[in-house]
Amino acid sequence: MLIFETVMLPLGIGTEKPFCVWHLTDLHLMHADGRDGAYENEHARARIPVFPSAHTMEEELLAAFQNAEEKPDFLLLTGDIIDFPTQANLDALTALLRAAGCPYLYVPGNHDWSFPKGYHSEEQIQTYLPKLSAAVGQPTSFCAVMHNGICFVGADDSRDRVSTDVAEKTAEVLAACKEKHIPAVVCLHVPIQSAALDPEAKRVWRAPVVIGDERADEATRAFCDAVEENANAVIAGHVHFTHDAPLDRGRCTQYISPLSAGGTVRKYYIV
Ligand SMILES: [Fe+2]
Repeated sequence: MLIFETVMLPLGIGTEKPFCVWHLTDLHLMHADGRDGAYENEHARARIPVFPSAHTMEEELLAAFQNAEEKPDFLLLTGDIIDFPTQANLDALTALLRAAGCPYLYVPGNHDWSFPKGYHSEEQIQTYLPKLSAAVGQPTSFCAVMHNGICFVGADDSRDRVSTDVAEKTAEVLAACKEKHIPAVVCLHVPIQSAALDPEAKRVWRAPVVIGDERADEATRAFCDAVEENANAVIAGHVHFTHDAPLDRGRCTQYISPLSAGGTVRKYYIV
Protein backbone atom coordinates (compact mmCIF):
# COMPACT_ATOMS: atom_id res chain seq x y z
CA MET A 1 0.00 0.00 0.00
CA LEU A 2 1.25 3.46 -0.86
CA ILE A 3 2.65 5.43 2.05
CA PHE A 4 2.28 9.18 1.60
CA GLU A 5 4.83 11.15 3.62
CA THR A 6 4.19 14.86 4.08
CA VAL A 7 7.13 17.25 4.16
CA MET A 8 6.77 21.01 4.56
CA LEU A 9 9.32 22.86 2.47
CA PRO A 10 9.45 26.58 3.29
CA LEU A 11 10.99 28.45 0.35
CA GLY A 12 9.22 31.79 0.79
CA ILE A 13 7.23 31.60 -2.45
CA GLY A 14 4.57 33.87 -0.94
CA THR A 15 1.44 32.02 -2.06
CA GLU A 16 -1.46 31.18 0.23
CA LYS A 17 -1.98 27.68 -1.16
CA PRO A 18 1.06 25.40 -0.82
CA PHE A 19 2.54 24.11 -4.08
CA CYS A 20 2.21 20.33 -3.86
CA VAL A 21 5.08 18.30 -5.33
CA TRP A 22 4.91 14.50 -5.36
CA HIS A 23 8.31 12.85 -5.24
CA LEU A 24 8.90 9.38 -6.67
CA THR A 25 12.27 7.70 -6.54
CA ASP A 26 13.63 4.18 -6.94
CA LEU A 27 10.42 2.48 -8.03
CA HIS A 28 12.58 -0.08 -9.88
CA LEU A 29 9.97 -1.34 -12.35
CA MET A 30 10.97 -4.69 -13.89
CA HIS A 31 8.81 -5.16 -16.99
CA ALA A 32 9.97 -7.12 -20.03
CA ASP A 33 8.04 -8.70 -22.89
CA GLY A 34 8.40 -10.26 -26.33
CA ARG A 35 9.99 -7.11 -27.77
CA ASP A 36 12.93 -7.56 -25.39
CA GLY A 37 15.57 -10.26 -25.79
CA ALA A 38 16.18 -13.46 -23.85
CA TYR A 39 18.87 -11.87 -21.65
CA GLU A 40 16.58 -8.94 -20.81
CA ASN A 41 13.64 -11.21 -19.96
CA GLU A 42 15.79 -13.48 -17.82
CA HIS A 43 17.25 -10.47 -15.98
CA ALA A 44 13.73 -9.14 -15.36
CA ARG A 45 12.66 -12.46 -13.83
CA ALA A 46 15.75 -12.54 -11.62
CA ARG A 47 15.14 -9.04 -10.29
CA ILE A 48 11.46 -9.43 -9.31
CA PRO A 49 12.26 -10.91 -5.86
CA VAL A 50 14.52 -7.91 -5.08
CA PHE A 51 11.61 -5.45 -5.32
CA PRO A 52 8.58 -7.72 -4.83
CA SER A 53 5.99 -4.96 -4.35
CA ALA A 54 7.17 -2.59 -7.10
CA HIS A 55 4.51 -3.52 -9.65
CA THR A 56 1.72 -3.37 -7.07
CA MET A 57 2.95 0.11 -6.14
CA GLU A 58 2.95 1.05 -9.83
CA GLU A 59 -0.73 0.02 -10.11
CA GLU A 60 -1.58 1.93 -6.94
CA LEU A 61 0.22 5.00 -8.24
CA LEU A 62 -1.68 4.90 -11.52
CA ALA A 63 -4.91 4.69 -9.51
CA ALA A 64 -3.79 7.47 -7.15
CA PHE A 65 -3.15 9.82 -10.06
CA GLN A 66 -6.76 9.25 -11.15
CA ASN A 67 -8.43 9.26 -7.76
CA ALA A 68 -6.40 11.35 -5.35
CA GLU A 69 -8.46 14.10 -3.80
CA GLU A 70 -5.41 16.28 -3.93
CA LYS A 71 -3.59 15.77 -7.19
CA PRO A 72 0.02 16.86 -7.52
CA ASP A 73 0.82 20.29 -8.91
CA PHE A 74 4.18 18.92 -10.00
CA LEU A 75 5.83 15.51 -10.10
CA LEU A 76 9.48 15.02 -9.36
CA LEU A 77 11.17 11.73 -10.28
CA THR A 78 14.71 11.26 -9.04
CA GLY A 79 15.82 8.16 -10.87
CA ASP A 80 15.74 4.38 -10.86
CA ILE A 81 12.04 4.51 -11.66
CA ILE A 82 12.84 1.59 -13.94
CA ASP A 83 15.34 -1.10 -12.99
CA PHE A 84 16.65 -1.50 -16.57
CA PRO A 85 15.74 -0.05 -19.97
CA THR A 86 13.68 -2.77 -21.64
CA GLN A 87 11.13 -1.50 -24.14
CA ALA A 88 8.37 -2.70 -21.79
CA ASN A 89 9.84 -0.66 -18.93
CA LEU A 90 10.35 2.45 -21.07
CA ASP A 91 6.69 2.25 -22.16
CA ALA A 92 5.59 1.81 -18.54
CA LEU A 93 7.57 4.91 -17.62
CA THR A 94 5.91 6.97 -20.36
CA ALA A 95 2.50 5.71 -19.24
CA LEU A 96 3.22 6.68 -15.63
CA LEU A 97 4.23 10.20 -16.62
CA ARG A 98 1.15 10.62 -18.80
CA ALA A 99 -1.12 9.34 -16.03
CA ALA A 100 0.25 11.92 -13.59
CA GLY A 101 -1.46 14.67 -15.57
CA CYS A 102 0.84 17.42 -14.32
CA PRO A 103 4.21 18.95 -15.22
CA TYR A 104 7.19 16.87 -14.15
CA LEU A 105 10.96 16.77 -13.95
CA TYR A 106 12.88 13.53 -14.41
CA VAL A 107 16.49 12.89 -13.53
CA PRO A 108 18.10 9.56 -14.44
CA GLY A 109 19.33 7.01 -11.94
CA ASN A 110 22.13 4.53 -12.47
CA HIS A 111 19.57 1.79 -13.27
CA ASP A 112 17.28 3.64 -15.67
CA TRP A 113 19.59 3.30 -18.67
CA SER A 114 21.71 0.24 -17.91
CA PHE A 115 21.80 -3.55 -17.68
CA PRO A 116 24.45 -5.38 -15.62
CA LYS A 117 26.01 -6.79 -18.81
CA GLY A 118 28.23 -3.95 -20.04
CA TYR A 119 27.19 -1.76 -17.10
CA HIS A 120 27.52 1.96 -17.94
CA SER A 121 29.63 1.20 -21.01
CA GLU A 122 29.91 3.70 -23.84
CA GLU A 123 27.57 1.46 -25.83
CA GLN A 124 24.92 1.66 -23.10
CA ILE A 125 25.33 5.44 -22.90
CA GLN A 126 24.83 5.78 -26.66
CA THR A 127 21.98 3.26 -26.83
CA TYR A 128 19.87 3.79 -23.75
CA LEU A 129 20.20 7.42 -22.64
CA PRO A 130 18.53 8.62 -25.89
CA LYS A 131 15.78 6.02 -25.42
CA LEU A 132 15.26 7.17 -21.84
CA SER A 133 15.13 10.80 -22.98
CA ALA A 134 12.50 9.92 -25.60
CA ALA A 135 10.46 7.97 -23.04
CA VAL A 136 10.36 10.87 -20.57
CA GLY A 137 10.17 13.62 -23.20
CA GLN A 138 12.98 15.60 -21.60
CA PRO A 139 16.76 15.84 -21.85
CA THR A 140 18.34 13.57 -19.26
CA SER A 141 21.64 15.36 -18.65
CA PHE A 142 20.36 18.75 -17.49
CA CYS A 143 16.99 20.45 -17.28
CA ALA A 144 15.88 23.63 -15.51
CA VAL A 145 12.18 24.49 -15.30
CA MET A 146 10.23 27.22 -13.50
CA HIS A 147 6.95 26.37 -11.80
CA ASN A 148 5.04 28.55 -9.37
CA GLY A 149 8.02 30.82 -8.86
CA ILE A 150 10.38 27.94 -8.05
CA CYS A 151 13.29 26.88 -10.25
CA PHE A 152 13.69 23.09 -10.37
CA VAL A 153 17.10 22.04 -11.67
CA GLY A 154 17.62 18.43 -12.72
CA ALA A 155 21.21 17.26 -13.12
CA ASP A 156 22.42 13.80 -14.17
CA ASP A 157 24.74 12.38 -11.51
CA SER A 158 23.81 8.76 -12.23
CA ARG A 159 27.46 7.83 -12.81
CA ASP A 160 28.45 9.14 -9.35
CA ARG A 161 29.71 12.38 -10.87
CA VAL A 162 28.53 15.26 -13.03
CA SER A 163 30.04 16.37 -16.32
CA THR A 164 31.78 19.70 -16.78
CA ASP A 165 28.92 20.85 -18.99
CA VAL A 166 26.28 20.02 -16.36
CA ALA A 167 28.36 21.60 -13.59
CA GLU A 168 28.72 24.83 -15.57
CA LYS A 169 25.03 25.01 -16.53
CA THR A 170 23.96 24.32 -12.95
CA ALA A 171 26.29 26.98 -11.53
CA GLU A 172 25.03 29.51 -14.05
CA VAL A 173 21.32 28.85 -13.34
CA LEU A 174 21.78 28.82 -9.56
CA ALA A 175 23.77 32.08 -9.57
CA ALA A 176 21.02 33.73 -11.64
CA CYS A 177 18.34 32.41 -9.27
CA LYS A 178 20.18 33.78 -6.26
CA GLU A 179 20.60 37.17 -7.88
CA LYS A 180 16.87 37.32 -8.71
CA HIS A 181 15.79 35.88 -5.35
CA ILE A 182 14.20 32.86 -7.03
CA PRO A 183 14.20 29.75 -4.81
CA ALA A 184 16.06 26.85 -6.44
CA VAL A 185 15.56 23.12 -5.83
CA VAL A 186 18.25 20.84 -7.24
CA CYS A 187 17.07 17.33 -8.12
CA LEU A 188 19.57 14.49 -8.20
CA HIS A 189 19.60 10.72 -8.11
CA VAL A 190 22.80 10.28 -6.09
CA PRO A 191 22.81 12.56 -3.01
CA ILE A 192 25.58 14.96 -2.02
CA GLN A 193 28.06 13.88 0.63
CA SER A 194 27.61 15.50 4.02
CA ALA A 195 28.71 14.87 7.59
CA ALA A 196 25.07 14.20 8.50
CA LEU A 197 24.51 11.64 5.72
CA ASP A 198 27.85 9.80 5.76
CA PRO A 199 27.46 7.54 8.82
CA GLU A 200 24.10 6.06 7.74
CA ALA A 201 25.16 5.78 4.07
CA LYS A 202 28.29 3.85 5.05
CA ARG A 203 26.45 1.68 7.57
CA VAL A 204 23.73 0.67 5.11
CA TRP A 205 25.74 0.30 1.90
CA ARG A 206 29.37 -0.28 2.94
CA ALA A 207 30.29 1.32 -0.42
CA PRO A 208 30.37 4.88 -1.82
CA VAL A 209 26.81 6.03 -2.59
CA VAL A 210 27.23 9.82 -2.68
CA ILE A 211 28.81 12.46 -4.89
CA GLY A 212 31.23 15.09 -3.65
CA ASP A 213 33.27 12.75 -1.46
CA GLU A 214 37.00 12.07 -1.77
CA ARG A 215 36.43 10.51 -5.22
CA ALA A 216 35.05 13.76 -6.70
CA ASP A 217 36.67 15.15 -9.83
CA GLU A 218 36.98 18.87 -10.45
CA ALA A 219 33.62 19.27 -12.19
CA THR A 220 31.73 17.33 -9.50
CA ARG A 221 33.43 19.34 -6.75
CA ALA A 222 32.49 22.62 -8.50
CA PHE A 223 28.92 21.34 -8.92
CA CYS A 224 28.60 20.48 -5.21
CA ASP A 225 30.08 23.87 -4.24
CA ALA A 226 27.57 25.71 -6.45
CA VAL A 227 24.67 23.74 -4.99
CA GLU A 228 25.78 24.27 -1.38
CA GLU A 229 26.24 28.00 -1.98
CA ASN A 230 23.25 28.89 -4.11
CA ALA A 231 20.50 26.25 -3.95
CA ASN A 232 17.75 26.25 -1.33
CA ALA A 233 17.16 22.51 -1.32
CA VAL A 234 18.35 19.23 -2.81
CA ILE A 235 15.90 16.38 -3.40
CA ALA A 236 17.47 12.98 -4.12
CA GLY A 237 17.09 9.21 -3.82
CA HIS A 238 19.39 6.24 -4.50
CA VAL A 239 20.25 5.29 -0.92
CA HIS A 240 16.77 3.87 -0.18
CA PHE A 241 16.39 5.45 3.27
CA THR A 242 14.92 8.67 4.64
CA HIS A 243 17.32 11.49 5.35
CA ASP A 244 16.55 15.19 5.76
CA ALA A 245 19.42 17.38 6.93
CA PRO A 246 21.41 20.44 5.94
CA LEU A 247 24.51 20.06 3.80
CA ASP A 248 27.74 20.90 5.55
CA ARG A 249 27.67 24.67 4.96
CA GLY A 250 24.21 24.87 6.51
CA ARG A 251 22.52 26.96 3.82
CA CYS A 252 20.93 24.18 1.77
CA THR A 253 18.89 21.25 3.10
CA GLN A 254 19.04 17.85 1.42
CA TYR A 255 15.88 15.70 1.40
CA ILE A 256 16.14 12.01 0.54
CA SER A 257 13.12 9.76 0.21
CA PRO A 258 13.13 5.97 0.62
CA LEU A 259 12.06 3.50 -2.04
CA SER A 260 8.87 4.10 -3.98
CA ALA A 261 9.22 0.36 -4.76
CA GLY A 262 8.33 -0.08 -1.08
CA GLY A 263 5.37 2.29 -1.45
CA THR A 264 6.74 5.62 -0.28
CA VAL A 265 5.55 8.74 -2.08
CA ARG A 266 6.59 12.03 -0.60
CA LYS A 267 4.39 15.08 -0.83
CA TYR A 268 6.34 18.28 -0.46
CA TYR A 269 4.16 21.24 0.42
CA ILE A 270 6.17 24.24 -0.70
CA VAL A 271 5.24 27.58 0.83
FE1 LIG B 1 20.31 4.23 -7.68
